[in-house]
Amino acid sequence: MEIIRAEKMGFCFGVKKAVEACYELSKEKEIRKFILGMVVHNKDVVKEMERIGFIIINEEDILSGKDPLEKGDSIIIRAHGTTNKVIELLKLKEVVIIDATCIFVDKIKEILIERESLGDEIIFIGDKEHPEVKGIVSFGRKINIFKSLSELKENSLDLSKKYSVLTQTTLNKRKFVEIKEYLQKYYPNAKIFDRICGATSERQEATRKLSRACDIVIVIGDLKSSNSKKLLEVAIAENPKSYLVQNDTELDLSIFSENMKIGITAGASTPENIIKKIENKIRGNFNVKL
Ligand code: F3S
Repeated sequence: MEIIRAEKMGFCFGVKKAVEACYELSKEKEIRKFILGMVVHNKDVVKEMERIGFIIINEEDILSGKDPLEKGDSIIIRAHGTTNKVIELLKLKEVVIIDATCIFVDKIKEILIERESLGDEIIFIGDKEHPEVKGIVSFGRKINIFKSLSELKENSLDLSKKYSVLTQTTLNKRKFVEIKEYLQKYYPNAKIFDRICGATSERQEATRKLSRACDIVIVIGDLKSSNSKKLLEVAIAENPKSYLVQNDTELDLSIFSENMKIGITAGASTPENIIKKIENKIRGNFNVKL
């Protein structure tokens, strides 16, 4: 039996940084520590954060004034960031803000602020319900958000205006190219910024390759994590023997047999220790090549 890992898998750069910030802050024993939202879409990680002393609160609590925050408390902003309004309220409460917003998300926010100050109208392509999008656009004045090219086409733009076009970090690259080609053809007055983060597409591509090369594929991730579910879809399309497993206790060993090539991949929100435990469970029960 052989275990093969996907070339790219597990925590992305931004999530890794945010989790490291949590571990760093957890060393401070004398203060109350909070995390805004789920630092990572993985319930085992959230449980671990609670175990090391964090209280998880959400934006709604802060916006409605129902949060337990007091002056001097510390709060970590997750990798997706948050809204301008939430930051303002946190400042008013005089809490210590540890901003773990991913630098790729921050960069889009910076471009948006700069282009608006230069007089451009902003077109944003993304899911307006996603926390990352809600956060970024909250720093602008009047943003036109479209979730797809078809939605963009339904709205005619003004050829006499200057537009800047920004996108959610995880927008599918193929969709981005379609949008770019459409805008370049009909609206040369739109300046397009490509700030898509490669982490998602890299993990999908690596999973595709892995699934073709293995007899069975284990996608490790939370059932609620959209990027893990997407990896499962990609894996199943190549190899019907693909399974989403949340942790080692859920791993059913009867799906394996000797001499199999087992592919392992994991979503951007799955920590290395969960991946290791799954690998170790397989190694402990089968004769696996080193
Ligand atoms: Fe940042 Fe990309 Fe991860 S934007 S949080 S590195 S998916």
